Amino acid sequence: MAQNNKNIILTGDRPTGKLHIGHYVGSLKRRVALQNSGKFDDIYILIADAQALTDNSDNPEKIRENIIEVALDYLSCGLDPAKTTICIQSELPALHELSFYYMNLVTTARLERNPTVKNEIKMRGFDDGGVGIPVGFYTYPISQAADITAFKANCVPVGEDQLPMIEQCNEIVRKFNSVYGDTLVEAKCMLNENEICRRLPGTDGKAKMSKSLGNCIYLSDKPEVVHKKIMSMYTDPNHINISDPGNIEGNAVFTYLDAFSRDEHFERYLPDYSNLEEMKEHYRRGGLGDVKCKKFLEKVMTEELEPIREKRKAWEADIPGVYEILRKGTEKARITTGKVLSEVKTAMRINYFDDSALIRDWMNKLGQ
Ligand code: TRP
Repeated sequence: MAQNNKNIILTGDRPTGKLHIGHYVGSLKRRVALQNSGKFDDIYILIADAQALTDNSDNPEKIRENIIEVALDYLSCGLDPAKTTICIQSELPALHELSFYYMNLVTTARLERNPTVKNEIKMRGFDDGGVGIPVGFYTYPISQAADITAFKANCVPVGEDQLPMIEQCNEIVRKFNSVYGDTLVEAKCMLNENEICRRLPGTDGKAKMSKSLGNCIYLSDKPEVVHKKIMSMYTDPNHINISDPGNIEGNAVFTYLDAFSRDEHFERYLPDYSNLEEMKEHYRRGGLGDVKCKKFLEKVMTEELEPIREKRKAWEADIPGVYEILRKGTEKARITTGKVLSEVKTAMRINYFDDSALIRDWMNKLGQ
């Protein structure tokens, strides 16, 4: 395998909607920590608009709007353009060229087996009886391999659902290197160590926050909206009277407390307990009401969300500045990915116009 002596992160999001607290605990918060760890030579975050278009071809306006929305979410969470390069996928032509060459290294049977794509096809109703699967959608794992390899990223922090993408990417890397010589770098997936943070349920207690289920708390939600959402959160349906024993498992309020609360929050807002374990114990025993738990959760969440809201307000007052960050980041990424594309073309020997041997070989062949 080609050696990369640098530590490079590449990750990305599809700009199909504003980001919610599931994104925040699952990845954004961690990206900021990685950014500030100083352990990485380069960090790139891709706003994957081209990938988003693979199942939104009829609605480019939605993608267009959400590019700024997602950038605002990034910046307000503390991603710092001086340390992290934010770039726009469709503006990086090298990615599209690489995808085209990688397509020859992947069989349709292999794509069909990709569990993430399989699942997404089902969720979107593209298959049997549906409108059919857009080719671009079907092949997006290949384009995602282009995203990762074009930055020579060795570290890709993503959610579990993306594991099959990294696996498929690494297969392409191995295939490429074995056919054309060592060029590309394999990447490692970096999952969140905290299991609860990996899959934060929706406010309705359902498996995952999702816009279509209407069970999200968005980073850009106003305090009164967050208040309403928390107060109507799913708890334990059998916990009717305060004195009833309550269930913690599947109780969204406690799952959120698991993800967000720290011991110091108890000191500040709920000194009846010194930590979450004590609070859970009381809930299980009976005698602790849902409203009290929800009020505490709201305080904890406010502490986390308020600085994000403040930063968002500042960035919202400077949209041209946000735009400029995207433009500069994309410019830098264009250079990085352009270099890797040249290496790929050289390895494939299709770099005709910087390959004088091509003329020489022909002249030799013709005895000139
Ligand atoms: N598929 C990812 C998602 O839906 C987004 C994405 C696009 C991505 N390109 C990437 C993630 C490259 C990691 C690396 O969340």
